[in-house]
Amino acid sequence: MTPDDFRAVMRRFATGVTIVTTMVDEKPKGFTANAFASVSAEPPMILVCVNRQARSHPLIARAEKFCVNILTLEQQELARRFASHGTSEPFDLLDYHTGTTGAPVLDDVLGYLDCQLAEEHTAGTHTIFIGTVVDCGYRDGSPLGYFNAGYRDFHCTI
Ligand SMILES: Cc1cc2nc3c(=O)[nH]c(=O)nc-3n(C[C@H](O)[C@H](O)[C@H](O)COP(=O)(O)O)c2cc1C
Repeated sequence: MTPDDFRAVMRRFATGVTIVTTMVDEKPKGFTANAFASVSAEPPMILVCVNRQARSHPLIARAEKFCVNILTLEQQELARRFASHGTSEPFDLLDYHTGTTGAPVLDDVLGYLDCQLAEEHTAGTHTIFIGTVVDCGYRDGSPLGYFNAGYRDFHCTI
């Protein structure tokens, strides 16, 4: 198999979209991520896979906290903003509050998991950050989906 075969299979896996945030020196930082999964319910633990090239990578490692913000269908623009490598500050004009760990919780997200960093594992080009969830919140709405390299409306609500 080739790397393109691998990508072709992964494009067939439908996911939600999150923005993983952290806070360092009182400066909020975040990036768009879909390599997110539940690990354990009791105790509540989750994982995110972060490219070691990402600017967020050393910040999460240093802050030892992060928040996974699950986006609604209406937040596609945020997903695009936090996925670009531009120099503009994606937190400008964005409403958020500081969660229990100190990581930013974005307003109006479908759900969030505020985590203390528990474990780090290197795998290929990425680091798997495992977090213990110390606080969470949720509301009803429709999720932003991602499938075949594009944002999608999965036509469902909770
Ligand atoms: C839908 C989508 C999902 C993504 N998922 C991840 C991910 O799980 N892990 C990751 O490291 N990058 C992921 N990326 C890429 C980052 O969002 C992107 O590289 C971002 O610019 C990194 O920002 P930073 O360098 O400011 O930290 C994803 C991008 C998109 C559009």
